[in-house]
Amino acid sequence: MSDAAGGGGDEYKREESVALLVIVSLAALSLLSLIAAFAYYCYITRKVSRRMHSLHLPKRSGSPPSPPPRAPQPPPPQQQQGKESPSSNSASDGAGAAMAVVVAGERGVQVFSYRQLHAATGGFGRAHMVGQGSFGAVYRGVLPDGRKVAVKLMDRPGKQGEEEFEMEVELLSRLRSPYLLGLIGHCSEGGHRLLVYEFMANGGLQEHLYPNRGSCGGISKLDWDTRMRIALEAAKGLEYLHERVNPPVIHRDFKSSNILLDKDFHARVSDFGLAKLGSDRAGGHVSTRVLGTQGYVAPEYALTGHLTTKSDVYSYGVVLLELLTGRVPVDMKRPPGEGVLVNWALPMLTDREKVVRILDPALEGQYSLKDAVQVAAIAAMCVQPEADYRPLMADVVQSLVPLVKNRSAQKAGNPSVQASKPLD
Ligand SMILES: Nc1ncnc2c1ncn2[C@@H]1O[C@H](COP(=O)(O)OP(=O)(O)OP(=O)(O)O)[C@@H](O)[C@H]1O
Ligand SMILES: [Mg+2]
Repeated sequence: MSDAAGGGGDEYKREESVALLVIVSLAALSLLSLIAAFAYYCYITRKVSRRMHSLHLPKRSGSPPSPPPRAPQPPPPQQQQGKESPSSNSASDGAGAAMAVVVAGERGVQVFSYRQLHAATGGFGRAHMVGQGSFGAVYRGVLPDGRKVAVKLMDRPGKQGEEEFEMEVELLSRLRSPYLLGLIGHCSEGGHRLLVYEFMANGGLQEHLYPNRGSCGGISKLDWDTRMRIALEAAKGLEYLHERVNPPVIHRDFKSSNILLDKDFHARVSDFGLAKLGSDRAGGHVSTRVLGTQGYVAPEYALTGHLTTKSDVYSYGVVLLELLTGRVPVDMKRPPGEGVLVNWALPMLTDREKVVRILDPALEGQYSLKDAVQVAAIAAMCVQPEADYRPLMADVVQSLVPLVKNRSAQKAGNPSVQASKPLD
């Protein structure tokens, strides 16, 4: 009996030990899995943080890198009217505004030596010069990798501090949009300061609107459709600066010579950011950076120096008038009352009967009057003296999109309708 009882006790003890062993093994296994899971978690975290580091996230904003430009979806114009300051502007765009100061490292802005740029532009020879602005001459050049570039040789040494130049270059290199002329690189060596841009084969818009002012003479060959597409692309450039960048960038010198055209006449806005570079410049030049360029400056900015994104909207309206009328913003050789484009055109812009009178004769009537009336109405809103009632650039884009698309659709549906003139 007692043997049987003793055997049963041993049996129980053995079972107890086995159970204990199983429990301990299971606990050890769980502990090991926990340790393994934790180690894996640490590994992944380190990997992600290393990747984030290598992406050169923007220094000036804590926001994520910019996605490609979105199709603008602004609220209806009447909801957007009212006082607008750069800060309210950025708030209006919510998450979109926070994203936009873009990753410079993605495309990279190169630092060039003076020697490299000297060689690329044939020693800054006259044959390579493509234009002369208030910052200095612009030269066509080719980089050793075959890229065509435009090199702006800033001709005012000493006026601007090295540091400020570097700061502005940093800003320019962070802004990226298909509608802005991107900076390829720069050079600051000794007394020389140069900016290197993508080369735009068709130069400035003004050269095509007023070919008779250049050495070659002739009338503008820009047809209606091309003008409207340029208007839309330039509007998108300003919209990006105003509403996709945080804090917003005010161009300050938006004008037809700062809209550059590529080989297919697609437009990009240039010289944003440069306006600030020249802000200490004394007057006396047609284009002073404090007041922008004659004929393009919003009245409230000229009078009070109060600058908002709405000052750019005014300048945009002037460019829209140039596209419509083929007239320069200020031409004192014209008959009395016609010298200042805005003053001459404004009373006629909202009168359907009169709009046709102000349209560029070079268009030879090749446009839809309905579209022209609409574009004139947009221009009228942009150049109105009261800044608060000017639209946002997003509104302008929104209004122009269907006009540009309609024209293409019309032509696709019926090629004989309003056939456009061939471009050079
Ligand atoms: N990236 C470029 N590609 C091709 N041509 C260019 C480029 N940048 C400038 N140009 C040419 O050089 C001209 C002068 O440009 P620049 O920006 O120096 O002066 P601006 O715009 O006429 O006047 P401002 O200096 O007052 O803005 C332009 O009108 C254009 O013809
Ligand atoms: Mg320019």
